[in-house]
Amino acid sequence: MGVILAVAGSAVGLGNFLRFPGLAAQYGGGAFMIAYFLALLLLGIPIGWAEWTMGRAGGVRGYHSAPGIFHVLMGTPAGKYLGMLGFVVPVMVYMYYVYVEAWCLGYAWLALTGQLSAGTDFGGVFATYTGIAQDGSAVHFGLESVGLWLVICYALNFWFIYRGVSKGIELACKWGMPLLILIALVILGRVLTLGTPDLAKPDQNVLNGLGYMWNPGDIAAGLKNPELWLAASGQVFFTLTVGFGAICCYASYLKKKDDVVLSALTAASANEFCEVGLGGLITVPAAYVFLGTAGLVGMGTFGLGFNVLPQVFAQMPYGGAFAFCFFALLFLAAFTSSLSMLQPGVAFLEEGLGLARKPALALLGLISTFGSMLCWWFSKDLKALDTIDFWIGTMAIYVQGFILILVFGWSKGMGIERGWQEAHIGADMRIPRFYKFVMKWVAPAFLGAVLLMFILNSVFGWNFSFSAPHFAPTGRIKDLVGAEHSDPARLTFLFIAICVGFSALLMHLAGKRWTDNPKENKS
Ligand code: ALA
Repeated sequence: MGVILAVAGSAVGLGNFLRFPGLAAQYGGGAFMIAYFLALLLLGIPIGWAEWTMGRAGGVRGYHSAPGIFHVLMGTPAGKYLGMLGFVVPVMVYMYYVYVEAWCLGYAWLALTGQLSAGTDFGGVFATYTGIAQDGSAVHFGLESVGLWLVICYALNFWFIYRGVSKGIELACKWGMPLLILIALVILGRVLTLGTPDLAKPDQNVLNGLGYMWNPGDIAAGLKNPELWLAASGQVFFTLTVGFGAICCYASYLKKKDDVVLSALTAASANEFCEVGLGGLITVPAAYVFLGTAGLVGMGTFGLGFNVLPQVFAQMPYGGAFAFCFFALLFLAAFTSSLSMLQPGVAFLEEGLGLARKPALALLGLISTFGSMLCWWFSKDLKALDTIDFWIGTMAIYVQGFILILVFGWSKGMGIERGWQEAHIGADMRIPRFYKFVMKWVAPAFLGAVLLMFILNSVFGWNFSFSAPHFAPTGRIKDLVGAEHSDPARLTFLFIAICVGFSALLMHLAGKRWTDNPKENKS
């Protein structure tokens, strides 16, 4: 139960309540959901099974971080480098994720103290908090700005990680997850009973709000849009925390005969319940009922959550209480996710460099503080945050997921036959047989295609046309080279490159310890 709640806690996060509803509404509910469920069934769930299985197998052999697990399972020096992104991704995603987590906590405080009521300048609060208008403008420590909350979030995260897996992470998730679902159900009840709040605008009612998100629309046209497939697959990875290195780390604390098949499915189902059943019914319908389509179009994930929704709550009876509940919910969801981004880092520093828990946490704290400060200072248009989110939070996750499923299905040390057997040790249910084929062929091919399309389109600016291909530099490239470049984006990219280089050095050092005496290397 502890590990299922921990993995579900890792999965249920900002992605469920902000990112998912935003994407589903943007791409038209019906078509998006078809691509989303296909990606869930063919990528998310099978790769999740592979990650759980490899995690438990590596843990039984004494390793708890992706580099260590890949190293011991593959039995080659390259293993640790193939698992390296399972260290880089969670640590770097944490850097900006915790910054947004601090917004959630700060907004909960604003709601509690009545500062998100009718008449508030919501755009102004959003700009002050996020610093979106100007670099450096979010760097304050008063209660009405993000600095203090950021420090509190850091302290909370590191304190719970310091307490260890059972007394820290499991404890936080055991209480946090049920509380989170309870709060979400209360808010859902409120949203679904809103009816038609303004009789002068009869179209803005709950049913139309749900329809805005869920009506199928032109499914055929939607499915022909490759961007929709990329968005749906990316969301499945992000929301399940697959490819982060977090699941294999958590699963590594299982015993040899603890079930992984049903546990993985249960954690994924809990995530989908929160994502589709709660996130999908709260955020967009609430905004639609009060603000109509105009309030939703072009708001982006963060605009929707931190600019639009406070306006919505301010118009509801007892809106302050519901706003507080909503941001407390977001904070809880984010907190249980950010914990899962720190543990893989600590596990690696402990077992790879032989550091004790305190120095490992100190080093991790130092590295992640640098990144968070970049996001905090270079906040204009959220440039630093967005740069890390793109290169690490999207692209590197695909790459790590791709490596993981290839290692599971094809490597000498694991391979599909052994992997399949290993997955079923102590299993409470059998995986349907056709998934063997999916894990060996379909998932790598599907994910390989998604990764390729993503790079060609989002990096090289391909227009998705085979007959008349055209490549134009995307904003990502223009940010880095040429006259229109952005200094914060360049600096952030340099920081990413340094972190990756530094991690490669750490892998090298870890390899020396592990090669010398892999069996004794129990953390
Ligand atoms: N899985 C986490 C989320 O959805 C990262 O936010």
